[in-house]
Amino acid sequence: FYYRPVEFSEPEYPRVEYQRRQQFWDPIRLAVFTLVIAAIIGIAIGIVTHFVVEGDKSFYYLASFKVTNIKYKEKYAMKSSREFTERSHQIEKMMSRIFQRSAEGRFIKSYVVKLNPDKDGVNIFMVLMFRYPSASSAERIKKRIEKILYQSLKTKNLPLTINKPSFTLTAIDSKKMRNFLNSRCGIRMRSSNMPMPSFSSTERLVHGRETATVGEWPWQASLQLIGAGHQCGASLISNTWLLTAAHCFWKNKDPTQWIATFGITITPPEVKRNVRKIILHENYHRETNENDIALAQLDTGVEFSSIVQRVCLPDSSVELPPKTSVFVTGFGSIVDDGPTQNKLRQARVEVISTDVCNRKDVYDGLVTPGMLCAGFMEGKVDACKGDSGGPLVYPDNHDIWYLVGIVSWGQSCALPKKPGVYTRVTKYRDWIASKTGI
Ligand code: ARG
Repeated sequence: FYYRPVEFSEPEYPRVEYQRRQQFWDPIRLAVFTLVIAAIIGIAIGIVTHFVVEGDKSFYYLASFKVTNIKYKEKYAMKSSREFTERSHQIEKMMSRIFQRSAEGRFIKSYVVKLNPDKDGVNIFMVLMFRYPSASSAERIKKRIEKILYQSLKTKNLPLTINKPSFTLTAIDSKKMRNFLNSRCGIRMRSSNMPMPSFSSTERLVHGRETATVGEWPWQASLQLIGAGHQCGASLISNTWLLTAAHCFWKNKDPTQWIATFGITITPPEVKRNVRKIILHENYHRETNENDIALAQLDTGVEFSSIVQRVCLPDSSVELPPKTSVFVTGFGSIVDDGPTQNKLRQARVEVISTDVCNRKDVYDGLVTPGMLCAGFMEGKVDACKGDSGGPLVYPDNHDIWYLVGIVSWGQSCALPKKPGVYTRVTKYRDWIASKTGI
């Protein structure tokens, strides 16, 4: 700062006083400043410790019990079957009815992981998730959960008859919980091991294509030709099988030339695998795009996590009505003929009926029963070059995601009356099973 030398011609007393006051004030200001900053830091640390140390923690339990008023069905063994899904949803709904109000809002979610035959009904195994203050003991929470459940058995009119003596509850850690959940498909988790609801994706999608967040589309894979990089998208349907489009392999069908990566960026990838085998649909026609579906088998299975997860395959009977919201994801270009994107992107599109899609002013009869149109008649949002083979998915009302389409073709990208055309996965459900056993 500017320093004024003491002028000896003036009376000394007031001048010196003035100088001293200036020097006196600055350290005080400094001290006050420091104190305020220290206080802010202190408060911040306090808030953080409050949430980290004193905050809530997830507690996981494996519940097993017998239900006596239903009969076991053969199809329950197949977790992707409609029978298993419907029964699981019924049981999960009943559990939230039991715990939602009674457990002080501490209940998060439950997932059925197995339905086993029993001589007088069905044995159910399910994971229950709760959040309690981190200082709570798992045993005490267990007692509380049991109490709430036994209470509901007496007072609530439940659709399923739970056999009380058969009920057991075991506290499990997050790793065990993950292993149990990995027996199911289409479930998204945050790295914190909390379920990721489907609205977390829909909410952000007001402006069409957006970049994805970690773990949002964990079944998305990138298929790459060694030396030439990303060619196509693909969807993980088991720990070793990818479902993609047949046209992705028209240049090169040699599995040793291909690799698959997972994660929301192409470089660096989260997980990388070689391809062992490529199976194209026998009746794929390049000229008509019919049966544009293929399987790629990984040389070693991937480990499921919050970042890598498989998507569910819908039952062949499932049909989504026009206007249903579905989501397409990929590393494809964002303008026609643009470059591949390093970050995964997502877009919400809507199912368009085949009748509309085959109109003279749209695709004029080019859409066959094995195809599905999705997008908007006004254009604007669409998959594009490089998204091919990638997933078109749909969340059911329990946040379980299903693969309904494979990015196949379209006239340019996002043009009006030229929506994206996808391979209709339900039509190929049996073909997939015949090749993979899934
Ligand atoms: N066939 C293109 C590819 O190889 C993708 C076509 C998707 N086009 C569209 N407008 N939806 O990547």
